[in-house]
Amino acid sequence: MTFLFNSDAARAKVFAAQFAKDLPEVPFASDPALVDPESVRYLMTWTPPADLARYTNLEILFSIGAGVDQLDASKLPAHVKLVRMVEGGIIRMMREYVTLGVLALHRRLPEYLAQQARAEWKPQPVKQAHERRVGVLGLGHLGKAVLEQLRPFGFPLSGWSRSAHEIDGVTCHHGADQLDGFLANTDILICLLPLTPETRGLLNGELFAKLPQGAALIHAGRGPQLDQSALIAALDSGHLSGAVLDVTDPEPLPSDHPLWRHAGIIITPHIASVTQPETAAKAAIENIRRHQNGLEPIGLIDRSRGY
Ligand code: GLV
Repeated sequence: MTFLFNSDAARAKVFAAQFAKDLPEVPFASDPALVDPESVRYLMTWTPPADLARYTNLEILFSIGAGVDQLDASKLPAHVKLVRMVEGGIIRMMREYVTLGVLALHRRLPEYLAQQARAEWKPQPVKQAHERRVGVLGLGHLGKAVLEQLRPFGFPLSGWSRSAHEIDGVTCHHGADQLDGFLANTDILICLLPLTPETRGLLNGELFAKLPQGAALIHAGRGPQLDQSALIAALDSGHLSGAVLDVTDPEPLPSDHPLWRHAGIIITPHIASVTQPETAAKAAIENIRRHQNGLEPIGLIDRSRGY
C-alpha cells in the first residue's frame, strides 16, 4: 500500500524522511516509474497525473495545497476520497498575509506608496481600528485563524460563509440571504473562499456596489472569483479605495495587464500561503492513520459542495 508523492524533489525528501520515521509500514515513493500502480493507495499531488486511472486501488487523492479546484473531481471514482491540505504552515502564512494586507489598507499604504513615487510628503486622515470593519468571506480553518489573528487590533470583525458558524467576538452571517447585510457593514473585505461554481465571478461590480463607500479588498482565494475589470472600475470611480491581490486570472499575470499599474492595487504572485513540507508530511500521516482507523480525514472534500 504505497503513498505516491508527486511534487518537487526538495519536498519529497522531507516527506520521505517523515514517513520513514512515523509511518514506516506505508512505503513512500516519489517516482511513479518505480512503483507498481496497483500498490498505490494514497496519491498526493497538485495537478492530477494524466494516467490517474492506472491507480486502480487508490483510496485517497490528497491535494498538496489548500485548494482542490485544480483537481477535476468528476474524473475520480466516487469511492476515492479527495482531501485538501490542512496544515499549520499554510494557516500561519495566511494569518501573516491577511494581517499584512489589512494593516496596509487600514493605514493607507497604497496611497503612501503612490505619494512616495512622486516624492510627496502628505499625511492623510487616519481612521482608528474601531472605525474599520473587517469582514472575511469563508469561515473554514483559514478564515477562522485570520479572524483570531486580527482580534487584538480592535477592528469590528465579521464573517460570512455558506453554512452557519459561531466564532467568539465575530458577527457571523451565512447563506445567500445574509450576504448583502454582511457586505453593507464591511470596510475591508477579505476573500478566502474556495473556487466552486457558486464562487466563480462572485467578486463583481454588483457585489462591490454593496460595500460601503471607500471599502477595500484583500483577495487570497482564487483568481477566477474576481471580475478584474469591475475591480478597476470600482477603484477608478472612488467607490473602492484599494485592493491587495495575491491571486489573479491568469497566473502569472501578463506584464501588460492593467492591474499591475493601478495605483490602488498591491499585487503579490500567489505567495500568501504555501504548503510547508515538514508540517504537511505530519498532517498527511495523521490523515492516513485516521483513514486506516475508520475516521474521516481532516480536510475531506464534500464532492457535492466542491470544498
Ligand atoms: C494555494 O493557493 C493552496 O491551495 O495551497
